[in-house]
Amino acid sequence: MRDLIIAIDGFSSTGKSTLAKLLAKELGYLHIDSGAMYRAISLYALENGMIHGEEINEAELLPQLEFIDVHFEWNPETGRNEIYLNGENVEEKVREMEVSSKVSLIAKIPEVRAHLVELQRKLGKNKRIVMDGRDIGTTVFPDADLKIFLNASAEERAKRRYEEMLKTDHPASFEEVVANINERDRIDSTREVSPLRKADDAVLVDNGRLTPQETLQEVLEIIQNLPK
Ligand code: DC
Repeated sequence: MRDLIIAIDGFSSTGKSTLAKLLAKELGYLHIDSGAMYRAISLYALENGMIHGEEINEAELLPQLEFIDVHFEWNPETGRNEIYLNGENVEEKVREMEVSSKVSLIAKIPEVRAHLVELQRKLGKNKRIVMDGRDIGTTVFPDADLKIFLNASAEERAKRRYEEMLKTDHPASFEEVVANINERDRIDSTREVSPLRKADDAVLVDNGRLTPQETLQEVLEIIQNLPK
């Protein structure tokens, strides 16, 4: 099989990262969760007092962007590529509710997007990558070899994210999770720069009733049928 760039986009908690991780493992590809990069910048802004309510201090944040080190390292124990912020493993911290509640505000800032898109493109320069996010098929890799747009009902997505949060040290209530998902989807799909939308040439996969393994199988079949 030729080397591919695979883009997986969709709303919050549709299982994009789970699918991307399983697919990358199956194909021996690199998996990059682009949302974790937006989350890492949000964590940095929070830790450095640059977020007040809904206000981001862009004058302070933007000049620092190029000096913030955001990268991934493979963790053989968890079997995933984990995110580092300035040398610290922040894989768990970036999933906390405080970060989730601010990340869409950070992801709206054009300069933040331009900076992260550049990093994401560098990560894909050798192909053999599965990247998941909101604008991978539309902006980061418009020429991706395969674009998947994942969807599931809002109820199913909230249930998944709630169950995921229960396993962490900072669980949130079901109501908080639902409110956060709805608010993020609203901001992500209405922002001016690279709003979340399905690319015209993306394949829509509704995995509301599918297990992660079934979703993987469906996508592997799509890959089998790609032009050689
Ligand atoms: O996939 P996630 O929930 O971890 O993403 C966190 C936030 O980052 C999400 O609310 C939207 C934003 N995001 C984005 O704007 N573009 C991407 N490619 C990935 C994530």
